[in-house]
Amino acid sequence: MAEQISVIEGNKAQKYQSLLPQIEALVSTEQDVIANLANISAALKEGMGYFWVGFYHAETPDMLVLGPFQGPVACTRIPKGKGVCGAVFEQRKTLVVPNVDEFPGHIACSSASKSEIVLPIFKRGKVAWVLDIDSDQLNDFDEVDQHWLEKLTSMIGLML
Ligand code: SME
Repeated sequence: MAEQISVIEGNKAQKYQSLLPQIEALVSTEQDVIANLANISAALKEGMGYFWVGFYHAETPDMLVLGPFQGPVACTRIPKGKGVCGAVFEQRKTLVVPNVDEFPGHIACSSASKSEIVLPIFKRGKVAWVLDIDSDQLNDFDEVDQHWLEKLTSMIGLML
């Protein structure tokens, strides 16, 4: 049965705090990774109001391919090292980009995207997926987003 996501009004930390247990509950009864990542994208979009949220899959050690997402049509393939997603794939760490126009090699899937946060998701020590979240506002992500989203990506890593 589908669940309803409800996010309390409040600051960003309070929103994440209310959303994350709901996401854990949402995926706890399903084993299929694609189904769960699709619902996590929807829950993040609905709960946090992001412009674009989605997952890229490490198809090979050098190439990311678009997976479940919510938002406008996106680039399907991102080579390792290219753009923010490719940099996270290569560097194996979260990147917060306050202004995408100032990021060398940024891949503009949508000209409306102004800032972003991208996080690696590890499976047996390798980057298996990346979570990419884009905003149509500058400076929309900070260490609060990083803190809560890293809790989420750790949880996702355990379910892969
Ligand atoms: N901007 C990203 C590409 C993915 S999309 O924005 C959905 C990047 O530079 O990696």
